[in-house]
Amino acid sequence: MTALTDPPHAPLPRIIQGGMGVAISGWELARAVSSMGELGVISATGIDNLLVRRLQDGDPGGHVRQALAAYPDQDRAQKAVADYYLESGRESGQSYKRVPLPSLRNHRVAWELAVMGGFVEVWLAKQGHANPVGANLLTKLQMHTLPALYGCLLAGVDTVIMGAGIPRDIPGVLDAFAQGKAASIRLDIKGDSTGEPVLLTFDPAEYGFGGRTLTRPRFYPIVTSHVLASVLAKKATGSIEGFIIEAPTAGGHNAPPRGTVTYDETGQPIYGERDLADLNEMRKIGLPFWLAGGSGSPEALRAALEQGAAGIQVGTLFAYCRESGFDADLRTQVQERAQSQRLQVYTDPLASPTGFPFKVVTLPDTLSNEELYRERPRICDIGYLREAYRDEVGKVGLRCPAEPVDAFLSKDGKLEDTVGRKCLCNALMADAGHAQIQKSGYEELPLLTSGDGVSALTDWPVGYTAADVVAYLRGGLA
Ligand SMILES: Cc1cc2nc3c(=O)[nH]c(=O)nc-3n(C[C@H](O)[C@H](O)[C@H](O)COP(=O)(O)O)c2cc1C
Repeated sequence: MTALTDPPHAPLPRIIQGGMGVAISGWELARAVSSMGELGVISATGIDNLLVRRLQDGDPGGHVRQALAAYPDQDRAQKAVADYYLESGRESGQSYKRVPLPSLRNHRVAWELAVMGGFVEVWLAKQGHANPVGANLLTKLQMHTLPALYGCLLAGVDTVIMGAGIPRDIPGVLDAFAQGKAASIRLDIKGDSTGEPVLLTFDPAEYGFGGRTLTRPRFYPIVTSHVLASVLAKKATGSIEGFIIEAPTAGGHNAPPRGTVTYDETGQPIYGERDLADLNEMRKIGLPFWLAGGSGSPEALRAALEQGAAGIQVGTLFAYCRESGFDADLRTQVQERAQSQRLQVYTDPLASPTGFPFKVVTLPDTLSNEELYRERPRICDIGYLREAYRDEVGKVGLRCPAEPVDAFLSKDGKLEDTVGRKCLCNALMADAGHAQIQKSGYEELPLLTSGDGVSALTDWPVGYTAADVVAYLRGGLA
């Protein structure tokens, strides 16, 4: 399928700032990077709850309300402000009002807010310059993908970057949205043997955007292997304009090692040569690619270009700069620990409810501390990482391995799948300074992720900027 509107023809960036959820690569970071002519990428993960939490924190600087004033549907935008904005922020101990937990049948409010959230983030990242801006989403978060993507397109996002799953359906979705049409993705249903497809559909017309054509962004899937890249290039539902090749050293989620998984003495999965993409094969595909994972240095940029890559994607180094969305105290703690050689990153095979390995920064006051993890009362009140399952009578429901164990078991879940699972939804909101205070008074704790290369922060003063990172990396072009 071809889009009505051609992809934008901006030159390819040498540096892509990695999409980092929740809110770590927010609009401020993406705007800083894009305004320097590299590709800044917002994270559209959790964007609906992020929107309403920012409003409830008093919307410092008025940015969210400024973006909402530009939203094409003013009735809905003003309703969101009326429902969530608190001029003086929350009172001490006050919980955030949540986005209603979406279900397969009932997700209207959550989806409206996701469209708005995607729009706000991209709109803000695009202010003050005319360069391209990207958006990142996790493929596995299927319940939220379509409206968040639509919101990003509505604000004119130039590039969409998605991994953590196989984003085979997404190019066709982008084509359809660009043409003003409804788009669907097929829900992945755990252990389903019926083969009956369940579709999630977002129709712009049902959300007040009928008949509107939009620019079709470039699409770069994140892959770990050349095999997957080649399959996607041939079999995706629409065009792909490039690839991000992510090595297992990258921050965030990692693909599991290929074949039978073995673990080191501390329980981390062991990766080998087989887990690295063959760049010879990548070159044969004929599309541009960027190397991610431990590529945050001028030497790595130079090496990437020499190997035929278009450039690099860098996460960790941007995650600790001044414009990142990490809570400032957490950011400083990590930098100080790096400087005194007390920082560790652990590739946790269990922490993420997705079942993908997740890199965790070991910090005492976060859920990486086993004792604090055990003390946390389990609750699933955000629900992004819920998986679909089909029960004995054929009904499809949603469950999360990090939700209360009894609830998970009552949904045909297995006890062993709950072990060590952490509520990333709440923890990542806390990382960005938006920790929920639960009804019991319990305040959600953070859990930080970073790439193996986080130890390189020793060389960076607290408060360094995105511009410092870009200038440093561009040294590799000299
Ligand atoms: C704090 C943090 C959060 C991340 N979150 C995401 C995410 O939400 N989606 C995604 O595709 N990648 C995510 N990543 C991966 C980055 O986009 C990027 O590919 C990776 O960080 C590159 O490797 P590096 O960390 O060694 O620079 C995250 C990385 C970090 C450090």
